[in-house]
Amino acid sequence: MPIYKIAVLPGDGIGKEVMPEAIKVLDTVGHLCGIRFDYTHFDWSCETWLKTGQMMPEDGMCRLAQNDAILLGAVGYPGVPDHLSLWGLLLKIRREFDQYVNLRPVRLLPGIPCPLANKKPGDVDFWIVRENVEGEYSQVGGRFAEGTEAEGVVQSAVFTKFGTDRILRYAFELSRKLGRPHVTSATKSNGLYHSMPYWDERFAAIGAEYLDVRMDQYHIDILAARFVMSPERFDVVVGSNLFGDILSDLGPGMTGTIAVAPSANINPEKKYPSMFEPVHGSAPDIFGQNIANPIGQIWAASMMLDHLGEAEAAALILKAMTDVLSTQSAPRTPDMGGLAGTSDVGSAIAKALTSGT
Ligand code: NAD
Ligand code: IPM
Ligand code: MN
Repeated sequence: MPIYKIAVLPGDGIGKEVMPEAIKVLDTVGHLCGIRFDYTHFDWSCETWLKTGQMMPEDGMCRLAQNDAILLGAVGYPGVPDHLSLWGLLLKIRREFDQYVNLRPVRLLPGIPCPLANKKPGDVDFWIVRENVEGEYSQVGGRFAEGTEAEGVVQSAVFTKFGTDRILRYAFELSRKLGRPHVTSATKSNGLYHSMPYWDERFAAIGAEYLDVRMDQYHIDILAARFVMSPERFDVVVGSNLFGDILSDLGPGMTGTIAVAPSANINPEKKYPSMFEPVHGSAPDIFGQNIANPIGQIWAASMMLDHLGEAEAAALILKAMTDVLSTQSAPRTPDMGGLAGTSDVGSAIAKALTSGT
């Protein structure tokens, strides 16, 4: 029986509420498929920062490295500056474990009211490939002329050839693997003088290696509009760290709720553990009410299983999820138009797994 070591980090806010539902579903599917999970729970969060001034202990990364994968809830909470909590935990893990691919499916699920008119499941169904360790997310720069009339700040973006090429190549390979040979690149080479013309140049160069894959390229502003106006036209969308971040909230927003969307932070070479989390954050506005939707976290667990090579178990979770959502009387949290609680949704998905309906 395969045994996987999983680092579980619920983190902050509703991360603590949705994580138990993902564990419930994982345990159920593990039982069905003969897989065991050896969980190590880490309570690192903004509370840790308030107590110790750090988001994780000194040996934190070494402890995480001993696992096959990391399942994360959300990081960030009022009381701790976001850039400190995020760079101290989530962004630190992404970088130090070289999780340079952030893979985020955008899919309209059954039974969730879609804010776009006349769309049904299948109409919105594409993948965002986000560069995850460089680009606009950088600590390069700083303040200048502090305290004078000339005070200001510079924030640099870093695009290496190595980093740009490998994310573009991943997107092209994915589109082939999916049997949807079409990659759309998000750019802004009309306004950003150095970084985006370079991104376009590398997109053209890598694309030349994939003559069977259709290529599109749009500036990020019109791309955002096209997402909303004609989502059917997308298969794989590749973008820099910041553009990918924005598009991966816009996409799920178009499917009715961001709370169902998962995110896989992948180190494709498997040199380090990859990390799976929902796209959403810690949602302080609803924390403590048992109304957080756990589906993003559960879908993230399914992506984790796929990454671990357990495709059948991963698919069973997705099927249980869509089966539940297709049932009119199924529990739905308020963001999905219902009145159910977090644990009701998690339990319904676990139950659907065992009953196969
Ligand atoms: P958010 O995703 O936490 O919340 C945005 C809105 O979506 C809120 O109204 C919230 O109630 C709703 N929402 C989010 N998840 C939901 C769920 N599962 N069920 C129902 N509704 C849900 O984004 P924010 O408000 O910008 O950020 C809050 C904190 O989370 C900040 O500290 C931010 O930096 C952090 N954050 C962390 C991550 C992460 O860990 N990956 C992602 C995004 C934001
Ligand atoms: C996400 C989040 C993070 C990001 C924040 C919290 C740093 O928004 O995972 O999408 O921008 O990557
Ligand atoms: Mn985001």
